[in-house]
Amino acid sequence: MRLPDVCSRLILVRRDWEPRGRDRGVSVIDGWGVAAIVAAIGLTGLALALYVRRKVRLLSQRIDRARDVAASRATDASYLARVLPPTACLPRPTNWSLGGDTLHWLLSEVERRRPRLVVDLGGGLSTVLLGLRLKELGCGQVVSVDHDAGFAATTQAFVSLNALDGIVEVRVAPLTANTALPGKAVWYDTDKLADLRDVDLLVIDGPPMSAGKRVREAALTFFQERFAADWMAVLDDAHRPGERAILESWRGGRNGFAIDVLPFATPTARIFPAQASEPSP
Ligand SMILES: C[S@@+](CC[C@H](N)C(=O)[O-])C[C@H]1O[C@@H](n2cnc3c(N)ncnc32)[C@H](O)[C@@H]1O
Repeated sequence: MRLPDVCSRLILVRRDWEPRGRDRGVSVIDGWGVAAIVAAIGLTGLALALYVRRKVRLLSQRIDRARDVAASRATDASYLARVLPPTACLPRPTNWSLGGDTLHWLLSEVERRRPRLVVDLGGGLSTVLLGLRLKELGCGQVVSVDHDAGFAATTQAFVSLNALDGIVEVRVAPLTANTALPGKAVWYDTDKLADLRDVDLLVIDGPPMSAGKRVREAALTFFQERFAADWMAVLDDAHRPGERAILESWRGGRNGFAIDVLPFATPTARIFPAQASEPSP
């Protein structure tokens, strides 16, 4: 159809919007046709606007997340700078490490409590920092437990670099299904941990969630008979659904542990024997 024909049809449509006489059929069809075109353009515009709005929202969420990560890295660095001896040589903090604020608090608890035995389930940066602080205080030992021999070897290398061999022991305890644990849970091989008694401080930052959402639940089942008086346990990642369920079950259990969650960048739960008085933060 040539352009003049289109124009004359549109004029026809406009003139015969209320169709009459000979042109009725033509003008009605053209009227609906124009309406359909207008509707199609409108719908396309709406879809485009919704698409753009969604893209802008996703982009701004990504910018917010990147800002949060940058802010928490800066916070971590400033906390770490405050707790580090100047000669310390540390594994680079990763998303898997305890956060700077959690580490800062944990080390101040170590200073306050002077634990004789610390067990660090899921070793790494936390192990080296705990060892350095105990060395500085001149008391206590750390047993760092890792299911993975490769990560354990890296932790061991940093332990040796910082001359902590007499204070920190790194153990490999592969994950195994254990019939003695509730639900025959997969957890660290308990044969490798059987000698651990009188634990003053238990840091639960492993095994990783890839082994199961509630994989860390077995920690208290195993250690509850192995704690010293006035013990404290710390569970990282307390915001995750699996850890929240674990905390619920510990709260509701026969032992009635006292639990609170500290509002760090990654929330951290501290757990005490029920009769213990809440320590000051
Ligand atoms: C949450 S990490 C423990 C981190 C440690 N507490 C720290 O502050 O550095 C738990 C386990 O994950 C494994 N792991 C550590 N870094 C990892 C990484 N970058 N990728 C995969 N697994 C990792 C190790 O086997 C470790 O025992």
